[in-house]
This record gives sequence, C-alpha cells and structure tokens, in this order.
Amino acid sequence: MKAMVNDMIFLIGFMGAGKTAVSKELAKKANMKLIDTDEYIEKKEGMKIPEIFDKYGEEYFRNIETQCLKEIVSKEEAIVSCGGGIIMKEENVKVMKAAGKVVFLKTSPETIYQRVKKSQNRPMLKGHMNVEYIEKLLNERQPFYDRAKDCEICTDNRTVSAIAQEILCFL
Ligand code: S3P
Repeated sequence: MKAMVNDMIFLIGFMGAGKTAVSKELAKKANMKLIDTDEYIEKKEGMKIPEIFDKYGEEYFRNIETQCLKEIVSKEEAIVSCGGGIIMKEENVKVMKAAGKVVFLKTSPETIYQRVKKSQNRPMLKGHMNVEYIEKLLNERQPFYDRAKDCEICTDNRTVSAIAQEILCFL
C-alpha cells in the first residue's frame, strides 16, 4: 500500500547524509514526484555544480539555489532532496517551512567522511577532505539545521528503507 502524504517534504542534512538515496525511497513509498535541488540547478544553468562554483563562486550558487527552491515550491507537491547548505539562508528556511515539512538527516562526521571521501563533486570540501574539517563545518551548520528541522532522523548504521519508513511514520 502507498503511504499518504499531503505536503511537500524537504530532506535536509550535510553532504553524504543520504538525502539522495532516502528521497528516492521515500518518493517510491509515498508515490510522489522527486526533485533534487542540485539536479534542478544543473539543468537550469547547463553546468555541473563544481563548474558553477569554479566559474562564479559560492555566492552566485547560493542565489541560484534560492531562485530554484522558489520555483520548485511553486509547482506540484514533491519530495525535495536539498543541497547540504540550503539552510544557511533564512529565506530558504522560510520558503520550505511555508510549503511543507522539513526532515533533517543527522549523520556523524566519521560516517560523512566515509561516504564522501572519494567524491569529486563536493566543492565545499575541495582541499579539505578530512574528518576534522567536516566536523568543523557540521558544527557551524548545526544551529541552522536545528532551526530549520521539523524532525530529525539518525542515518548512521541504518538502511535507506528503515530511514524512509521512519520518516513516513512522522508524516
Ligand atoms: C553543498 C552541498 C551540495 C551542493 C553544493 C553545496 C553544501 O549538495 O548543493 O556542492 O554547501 O553543503 P549535497 O548535500 O547533495 O552534496
């Protein structure tokens, strides 16, 4: 049986928290459309995320991210997998909260490191691919995740299916 969800669902969390995998499972279970903000940005800009950072810098990327988020919420209801830094702008948090529920995927710095250490497309970690830096950035962002979230799900040592199921129980 498909689960019933009557709002948009935003998955937030640090890079490597599992937002992409969990959102796919959730969309399947809830029979909802899935939108990934990074993919949406890449399509709109005709460039990969690292290329956008290289050419135009983080501030430009953040502005596009906000513009895209607004477009996404103006369309049909969906599960939205958000880029890890989306919570850093209060405007984005307001947009998400007005449109639906915000689920924070909580993950330890060690788990994040194991998941992203070989990644070539995480410009925010370029030149800093180590646990210490991940922990520092995560600590800086934690108050923003806390402010944005409606609920929090731990993803360490858990299957994608179990995480998606727990989110559905909350909704
Ligand atoms: C970012 C996370 C990335 C992407 C961009 C910036 C961040 O998304 O939006 O590289 O600031 O944490 P993922 O969380 O999907 O890796």
